[in-house]
Amino acid sequence: MADIVILGSGGFGLSLAVSAYNTGNHSVTVWSKFQQEIDDIRAHGEHRQKLPNVKIPEDIRLTSDISCIKGCDMLIFSVPSGFVRSVAGLAKPYADDNMVVVNSGKGIEEESLKLLSEVITEELGTDKLVVLSGPSHAEEVARGIPTTIAAASYNKNAAKYVQEQLGSHNLRIYLNDDVKGCELGGALKNIIALCCGICDGMGGGDNTKAALMTRGIHEIAKLGTAAGAKIVTFSGLTGIGDLIVTCTSVHSRNARAGRLIGQGMSPEEAVRQVGTVEGYACCNAAYKLAQKLGVEMPITEQLNKVLFHGGNAQEAITVLMNRPMIYEHEELHL
Ligand SMILES: NC(=O)c1ccc[n+]([C@@H]2O[C@H](COP(=O)([O-])OP(=O)(O)OC[C@H]3O[C@@H](n4cnc5c(N)ncnc54)[C@H](O)[C@@H]3O)[C@@H](O)[C@H]2O)c1
Repeated sequence: MADIVILGSGGFGLSLAVSAYNTGNHSVTVWSKFQQEIDDIRAHGEHRQKLPNVKIPEDIRLTSDISCIKGCDMLIFSVPSGFVRSVAGLAKPYADDNMVVVNSGKGIEEESLKLLSEVITEELGTDKLVVLSGPSHAEEVARGIPTTIAAASYNKNAAKYVQEQLGSHNLRIYLNDDVKGCELGGALKNIIALCCGICDGMGGGDNTKAALMTRGIHEIAKLGTAAGAKIVTFSGLTGIGDLIVTCTSVHSRNARAGRLIGQGMSPEEAVRQVGTVEGYACCNAAYKLAQKLGVEMPITEQLNKVLFHGGNAQEAITVLMNRPMIYEHEELHL
């Protein structure tokens, strides 16, 4: 039995809590910064906005007291990327070296361009950091729909611990040692999901979306390998796997925000309406990172124009379609 604490009572934090609880083996606590959110979940037995129609068992402890993490075996971060550093700061006084620390958030810290695992490691000083990523919509994880993800870590024992404790007949967890690749794949696919949503919103075709996904994973892999990730990771669960689910699922908030933008809504308003749209901030961060590493990312560059510089989506497609004709895998033919 493990004592598991999840930081963040949004859709994904709660789905991991239910999944861990349903193994029948663990004591599970979910922390929120907001007492009102906790009270609301308890009053209605579910999170009506973030994870509707999923009952949160009474035995899962809900609290806004961060000292709940004291002495736990596994500490899981499940907050949007913009809040990871501040939540890690709150957790720090109660964290210890024995805890396995898991990041399930997907993004890049906008100011520093650091991965979330780097932010958490910096704040907590842990050597037991594990990244949990892959195609895993909260709505399905919480309902026990068969799901596969990866637990990536430089510390094999820590990754194995996560695999053993959180894995179940519904949640199959593979080990991976490419932390950078897993994290970048999970963060960057949201950019492509926004693009696919925009394409749908404009009444675009399936060919165009397939092109965005395929050329999307290509440029994600280019940035990833330039940052030190392994190319094979991008053909796995945290790369193409997560990209497929995010670009095609009704559950994707990035695709939903994209559809609104494609229908003519301003990006700011679309993000305000949909809520957590990780691809928005990530597009800005990824574009900066690409410039820093000297990597060409045409799709990310065009989305950046649409989101932050008043660019027009139709013009963005025209620009992408009129780039010089090149080899598909140009790095093999230079
Ligand atoms: N929802 C999914 O299907 C899913 C799947 C895999 C990974 N993720 C990732 O998990 C992370 C969390 O996503 P989510 O879907 O649970 O988000 P969410 O929008 O459902 O929930 C966000 C939660 O973050 C917390 N929060 C909000 N503002 C905060 C603040 N200032 N300080 C501390 N906490 C705050 C609140 O508890 C809120 O409920 C994201 O990075 C997301 O990409 C989500």
